[in-house]
Amino acid sequence: MGRAFVYVILGGGVAAGYAALEFTRRGVPPGELCIISEEPVAPYERPALSKGFLLPESPARLPSFHTCVGANEERLTPKWYKEHGIELVLGTRVKSVDVRRKKLLTATGETISYKILLIATGARALKLEEFGLNGSEAENVCYLRDLADANGLVNAMQSCAGRNAVVIGGGYIGMECAASLAINKINVTMVFPEVHCMARLFTPKIASYYEEYYQSKGVKFIKGTVLSSFEFDSSGQVTAVNLRDGSRLPADLVVVGIGIRPNTSLFEGQLTLDKGGIKVNGKLQTSIDSVYAVGDVAAFPVKLFGETRRLEHVDSARKSAKHAVAAIMEPEKSGEFDYLPFFYSRVFGLSWQFYGDNVGEAVHFGDFSGTTFGAYWISKGHLIGSFLEGGTKEEYEAIATATRLKPPVEDLVELEQQGLNFALTV
Ligand code: FDA
Ligand code: NAD
Repeated sequence: MGRAFVYVILGGGVAAGYAALEFTRRGVPPGELCIISEEPVAPYERPALSKGFLLPESPARLPSFHTCVGANEERLTPKWYKEHGIELVLGTRVKSVDVRRKKLLTATGETISYKILLIATGARALKLEEFGLNGSEAENVCYLRDLADANGLVNAMQSCAGRNAVVIGGGYIGMECAASLAINKINVTMVFPEVHCMARLFTPKIASYYEEYYQSKGVKFIKGTVLSSFEFDSSGQVTAVNLRDGSRLPADLVVVGIGIRPNTSLFEGQLTLDKGGIKVNGKLQTSIDSVYAVGDVAAFPVKLFGETRRLEHVDSARKSAKHAVAAIMEPEKSGEFDYLPFFYSRVFGLSWQFYGDNVGEAVHFGDFSGTTFGAYWISKGHLIGSFLEGGTKEEYEAIATATRLKPPVEDLVELEQQGLNFALTV
């Protein structure tokens, strides 16, 4: 025997928090909804972990960043879940799911059954070991995915002021952690295999702006190479990293951000997978009617581009969760999810936003020696992507609106001259 719920959310991250809020807004009765999470705390805004959480002065700490404060919505504390009759099963890993029998088995041996399952298991950080490198279990080698990792990083940073950190990976985690380490007065060297940072999104011109800015804050870059081994002291702490290009970097702390893998393993062989995630339709419904998937783990149709994508960003986790709940609670009223991809980051005093897709030809605009600049991406004669650093709220809204409209662009030189005005007047 076990417990039974009408709705179960598997995973207690960003998407779970936003889904819970939407369930209550749509009048879910007390006792019908349960959230099961491996993490020991109620859903929180994960982006805080690489930003406010790592600040040396007045760092962000729970309960201040529980969902849904990141979207200026209510802050859902454990008390809120209790008051709304939502069962939070925390610190509990689900070890198997039977989607035909509609049952889950937890690592504590409990069986929980459901009528509708919402998968929100997110993703896990890739480990260096998966690339054939050993030693990343050392205490001063940090990954960053959850609160426990963030606490580990804060502890490791505390003894490091004035000492050396090596950041492995030039993506989001690498960039945001390098900035946070530098703010904590730690000497940072970033190492990544590509020719410039944020290779998945930035053009070389955009990347060089951020790299120069980071250098002005004391961050060093070693590009085009990867780690070949760690050196350890007698207590098992890493003391240096060796790179494939032959260089050796003394290290008191190593932060690794080399990408993620969606947590799909419970469903392999049971649900259709795509793009490394769980394939869903425009209602966020998987290949089994009673199972929905949202957030980092879901591969969903992006109507705007006519293809299935898996996005690894907080806005899509929030909005896909909201849409899935609408589709679950009011199936006849809810349409297809029509999402405009949106990514952003904040580092040091900088802040950028990106909307759409970064394929085709990039046209840069604005003042790359100043504080406000950006780029548009033009594909098949239409604007399909926009990036802006240092914009105002209105300017960000304008590039978002323009990107969604996919306006035709005939003359790239004229577009470059118009710059931000193009989006503001489209
Ligand atoms: P999320 O990872 O948030 O939650 C998954 C949950 O499922 C976790 O609680 C996990 O423990 C649980 N779980 C998994 N398997 C389980 C099992 N078998 N049993 C029980 N529980 C299980 N994005 C952005 O747009 N802007 C930003 O600035 C940032 N910043 C940022 C910083 C850091 C440090 C990270 C790690 C990530 C970001 N992101 C981001 C990405 C963003 O946080 C991410 O896209 C969302 O958290 C995805 O939300 P999900 O709910 O899908 O997964
Ligand atoms: P990422 O995909 O952004 O970057 C991974 C980086 O790892 C690559 O750029 C590359 O430089 C490097 N790399 C890959 N393989 C390597 C190897 N074998 N050795 C050395 N370097 C290697 O992933 P991430 O930075 O780890 O971020 C993890 C997740 O967190 C992503 O889903 C990301 O979207 C999310 N996140 C998002 C934000 C944001 O949106 N502002 C902030 C933090 C984290």
